[in-house]
Amino acid sequence: MARIKTGLPGLDSLIQGGFPENTVVLLSGGAGTGKTLFGLNFVVKGALQGEKGCYISFNESEGDLVRACRGIGLDYENKNLIIKGITLGKDINVDGFISMIEKYPKIDRLVIDNLNKLLLFSVDKRDYRYQLTLLVRYLREKVRCSLLICETDNGIDSGNGESFECDGVLHLTFSEFEERPMRTLTIDKMRYTSFEPKISYELKIDSKGLRLSKRMII
Ligand SMILES: Nc1ncnc2c1ncn2[C@@H]1O[C@H](COP(=O)(O)OP(=O)(O)OP(=O)(O)O)[C@@H](O)[C@H]1O
Ligand SMILES: [Mg+2]
Repeated sequence: MARIKTGLPGLDSLIQGGFPENTVVLLSGGAGTGKTLFGLNFVVKGALQGEKGCYISFNESEGDLVRACRGIGLDYENKNLIIKGITLGKDINVDGFISMIEKYPKIDRLVIDNLNKLLLFSVDKRDYRYQLTLLVRYLREKVRCSLLICETDNGIDSGNGESFECDGVLHLTFSEFEERPMRTLTIDKMRYTSFEPKISYELKIDSKGLRLSKRMII
């Protein structure tokens, strides 16, 4: 099966070389755990190897995102890359989002930051799940690999079925290991892939970028 590199060699080696092609992966986590930087790293690294990347944020402006890239040494000036900040409004919904994506000829890697906001105006839980289902089905066909960022407090999704709907789930948290606080990443689900569940890996962030290191059970 063709694989899309995650942008983190340490993660690729844990999931048979990368995300499976034509999948939608949920990237969930609490505030400040590294979701946006993981997403930016994913599209920028792809663009550097010639893959068309698109990062759409309902959270931050293009300027904010560029500043975030700079902070971790990511070279965002690339013809294969679209970075877009969208102001949230009642006209933001899955249909509108799909019409916007349709205008782009071909996308290899897409990040939506974040799902909670794209679906903010769904009227109830059932509508949220329905919109989510339509979105995931569309993205599986249209994009080689999509990353849906999801804000969570406890647990791997917001309780609206995101982890069931998506093909893969990566979860970011703050943890403590041997009395040292750290950011950690856990692979909770990856269809078509063998991986070690329930193991957390340290996610390091500094001016040189993101790295996944050390295997540990927390
Ligand atoms: N160059 C850097 N060196 C060290 N840490 C950094 C650097 N750049 C960013 N960070 C840290 O990375 C954290 C995570 O950033 P990021 O924006 O990806 O989190 P997030 O999960 O998207 O947060 P939010 O829920 O607020 O959207 C920042 O809060 C900051 O502490
Ligand atoms: Mg963020």
